[in-house]
Amino acid sequence: MKTIKVKASTEYEVIIDKGILSKVGELSLPICGACSACIVTDDNVDPLYSSIVESSLEKSGFSVIKFVIPHGEASKNTTSLISLLEFLAENKITRSDCIFALGGGVVGDLAGFAAAVYLRGIKFIQLPTTLLAAVDSSVGGKTAVDLIAGKNLAGAFHQPSLVICDYTTLDTLSDEIFADGCAEVIKYGIINDRPLFELAKRGIRENIEEIIAACVLNKSRIVAEDEFDTGMRQLLNLGHTVGHAIEARSEFAISHGSAVAMGIAIVSRAATTMGICPEADLAEIIDILRGASLPTECPYSAEELCEIALNDKKRTGDTISLVVPYSIGDTRLYKIKVGEICGFIGKGLKK
Ligand code: GLY
Repeated sequence: MKTIKVKASTEYEVIIDKGILSKVGELSLPICGACSACIVTDDNVDPLYSSIVESSLEKSGFSVIKFVIPHGEASKNTTSLISLLEFLAENKITRSDCIFALGGGVVGDLAGFAAAVYLRGIKFIQLPTTLLAAVDSSVGGKTAVDLIAGKNLAGAFHQPSLVICDYTTLDTLSDEIFADGCAEVIKYGIINDRPLFELAKRGIRENIEEIIAACVLNKSRIVAEDEFDTGMRQLLNLGHTVGHAIEARSEFAISHGSAVAMGIAIVSRAATTMGICPEADLAEIIDILRGASLPTECPYSAEELCEIALNDKKRTGDTISLVVPYSIGDTRLYKIKVGEICGFIGKGLKK
């Protein structure tokens, strides 16, 4: 078992262990008392893990209601958000009650945003069941839904009150969903943690508790420093500006993790072409991505990607901040002019 403290505007713990979904009730009791608990989950996770969480909560005196959404990114929208808010109101959930987000990034982002805006803010607890949620999205308080114009365009910073990560839930993930999370693990290694990168090379599944803890520790340090994403937190977007453009261009047929992997490969290749990142580091980055069954070649042209990439939230005026590896374990924000983005992506697409 590993416990990591996140020191943001509110402090909370991330508890990482085997089999702790059956202890959600007792672990949550000191955080919110035996209140009304609303479990938010999706139709993949519900039959696997809702009943274990529900009975643990009930055993500790919580009264439980449940809201289930269809799985997948298409549910992370304003319609689901309003339905969830109406559900909370119909069930007379009050400010002293708590939402439990049981699932991956979509469930966590939606449930977290509902918790941020319902009654101007109630508590929520993250119960991540995917690798991506365990290592990244359940920690740090970014909550959001997608708008027609783009991903995560409506959201709020709202920290969870506790994160309970039972990594035995990762055993039921498909290889593709597990690989999605591997892209985020590799991202943390490249950003500022060469030992984590080396550990990931030795096997992510084989070292899962240590890997999750290392990613969460990295994230907790970054969030403590820049909770509201005005500086170093932007490093967590390595591969994401181009990755989001790939995801959007594919109309979400390409998964987030695959798109981020392609995005990491593209910015790393561009950095090498520009003499910023050594060839040897690029080769290691491409190898580890491929070893995790992630794609490194992109089916779109620079022109097809740059128009969408320019809508990225990281754009300010006529510049955009890209996250660029200078070596494994050393990435930096690299500002380029909007007019140069197409050329930059083009350099990264050349093999
Ligand atoms: N997933 C990136 C962040 O939390 O900032």
